[in-house]
Amino acid sequence: MAEQDTETGKDKESKPAVTRIYSGIQPTGEIHIGNYLGALSNWVRLIPQYDCIYCVVDYHAITIEYDPAEMPHAILDTALMGMACGLDPEKCTLFVQSDVPETTELAWVFNTVTSMGALERMTQFKDKSSQHQQNINAGLFTYPVLQAADVLGPKANGVPVGDDQSQHLELTREIARRFNHQYGDTFPEARTLYSPAPRIMGLDGQHKMSKSRGNDISMKDEPDAIRKKLSTAFTDPDRKRRTDPGNPDVCNIFSLHNSFSPEDQIEMINTECRSAGIGCVDCKKMLAENMIAEIEPIQSRYHDLVVHPDEARDALKSGASRIKSMVIETLDEVRSRLGLRTTV
Ligand code: TYM
Repeated sequence: MAEQDTETGKDKESKPAVTRIYSGIQPTGEIHIGNYLGALSNWVRLIPQYDCIYCVVDYHAITIEYDPAEMPHAILDTALMGMACGLDPEKCTLFVQSDVPETTELAWVFNTVTSMGALERMTQFKDKSSQHQQNINAGLFTYPVLQAADVLGPKANGVPVGDDQSQHLELTREIARRFNHQYGDTFPEARTLYSPAPRIMGLDGQHKMSKSRGNDISMKDEPDAIRKKLSTAFTDPDRKRRTDPGNPDVCNIFSLHNSFSPEDQIEMINTECRSAGIGCVDCKKMLAENMIAEIEPIQSRYHDLVVHPDEARDALKSGASRIKSMVIETLDEVRSRLGLRTTV
């Protein structure tokens, strides 16, 4: 099926076709089902269609407080979970951001075509700086500039993400436009490819699922932990008693059914909930079993991969070497456009 241009709603045919896509995930905390549905499972789905580049973005992760002793485990673990979800390094390029430090040179250049005003408007900067008031560092502020360099270093022209990244990618396009305008046509305006599940809400039903809010289900949670977490998750807030009819349109549990359950069960719940034929307890139990059935094979692949970490490390190194040559080529072109050379 053709990719929808969810970014502009315009006829996709009028723009150059997406050929190479890039996306990244931070090695901060365990991967949760929001990351899985909003990113990893979508990344896997796109592998047959594009030249896919996926990155564990460790340079981004150091913009908030972290434990350097834990970081190597977190980086490898994120890559292993990605592989367990289906990011096969034979079929896509998987690498660690800091293994291609040339990207940070491109970020420096991009700093000079990025306006302070644009960075000040970034809602993620505002959110993160209110969450980390003791550590509002310049890296947190210029975070989206490095993100633009990630995407544009290998000249990717599509970026699959959840909807929390839309503002960062608008800025990536703005940086490309400004650079091209000032120095000549060099970079594509990468299109945002929203995931089919662009915003998975947390178990509180109020906020986006995220580890930092503690409203998540981890991809590593045991079946009983999943059952327990779902049993206390929020549903339709107006459904107070079992006999009240519910409204699946406003129920977070129902939206998770859309990602994990078979079509006929979703239809049955949709009808029976509205007539109080089914209660929240049973609805959650069904979801738990469907979620466990999808996650368990991933967990078992993860456990197989963990015992051979050197294979994963080798795959990451060879991914980095491919991207490194692309970024070096881009930087040669960039330095030349900027006049950073002694030959005239
Ligand atoms: P990060 O690590 O926060 O999240 C990784 C991906 O997971 C998606 N995601 C979600 N999707 C749906 N529902 C949720 N609850 C949810 N939580 C997370 C995010 O949208 C993202 O796609 N800045 C990026 C990392 C990055 C990047 C890049 C992305 C660095 N360079 C270049 C794209 C291109 C971030 O913090 O992702």
